[in-house]
Amino acid sequence: MGSDRTTKRYELNELAQAADAIRAGAIIAFPTETVYGLGANAFDSEAIAGIFKAKGRPQDNPLIVHVSNATMLHQVASHVPDVAQSLIDRFWPGPLTLLLPKSERIPSSVTAGLPTVAVRMPSDPVAIEFIRLADVPLVAPSANLSGRPSGTTWQAVAEDLDGKIDGIVCGPATQIGLESTVLDVLHDPPRILRHGAIDIAMLRHALPGIIDASQTIATDQQHAPASPGMKHRHYQPKASVRICSMAEQGADSTMKSGNRGWIGIHRPDQANDYVVVVKCNNIEDYASRLFETFRMMDHRGIDIIDCEAVPLEGIGMAIMDRLKRASLKS
Ligand code: TXA
Ligand code: MG
Repeated sequence: MGSDRTTKRYELNELAQAADAIRAGAIIAFPTETVYGLGANAFDSEAIAGIFKAKGRPQDNPLIVHVSNATMLHQVASHVPDVAQSLIDRFWPGPLTLLLPKSERIPSSVTAGLPTVAVRMPSDPVAIEFIRLADVPLVAPSANLSGRPSGTTWQAVAEDLDGKIDGIVCGPATQIGLESTVLDVLHDPPRILRHGAIDIAMLRHALPGIIDASQTIATDQQHAPASPGMKHRHYQPKASVRICSMAEQGADSTMKSGNRGWIGIHRPDQANDYVVVVKCNNIEDYASRLFETFRMMDHRGIDIIDCEAVPLEGIGMAIMDRLKRASLKS
């Protein structure tokens, strides 16, 4: 186990071989509609231990279990409350992760000792087919070293995890580019723990009264155990990340120092001050290119990445959440 594995490349026509390897205990990254996931059999404690080790992930940060049908869901969760079922009917398959009471079959290492298990059914056709062929639920944290930007291309996964995992399913770049929304439906009122493409307005439309706990959970020690992953610094490139509103550009004189890169939906006013400018077509495009841009800017030797602030609407909420965590200093 550890950093001496040969990481095999699986083409899309080799999914069945990759799925066989999963059943034999392998750890294999695969594409989903959000980000690449680092997959292993959710019932295999040894493979689970290997995932924490490969990512350098703190043991107190639980994993999401991915299912491809209702039978698997009921192997993973001991009970699916009506409120959860109504959201499943509305949003699955898709980028919504629900906390449910954990079944006995799920090892406690998956949930970091919590009584709940996070579950989602991805919509990406490769992801669904991979789980179906594996014929077991798959744990899949984002396929990156802990703390780094999530992998949205197979090459990004290889950059972080080559030699540490058994394989990578080499699919296309992921469509959404940011991780799923995490919702605690067992809490009254139901609360969002992490923002994603299924936004709060869509969720409230289906279930009025949902609250946003993503910030409280992250900062409030008393609440920290409710979603352990949210307290960790995250999504960080080697460069410093700064959040810039279009209006405030240039107001901060320190913004002139170092090799700077820009990402946003507008061009910056002082475009000549930037070594690299990534102008996105809209906020969905911004979300899908954010993590790959972080990695590209690291390759280009950028010191500071200026990221345009966006309105807290739609996937804008998830973008701002990731930018805040990426910009936290140690
Ligand atoms: O889009 C996604 O969700 C991707 C793809 C691969 O599906 N996966 C992903 O996994 O982002 P990961 O491990 O990077 O993030 C899981 C998040 C963490 O913030 C973790 O703390 C939270 O979900 N989580 C998992 N189980 C939990 C539980 N039982 N209670 C509270 N939070 C939980
Ligand atoms: Mg992650």
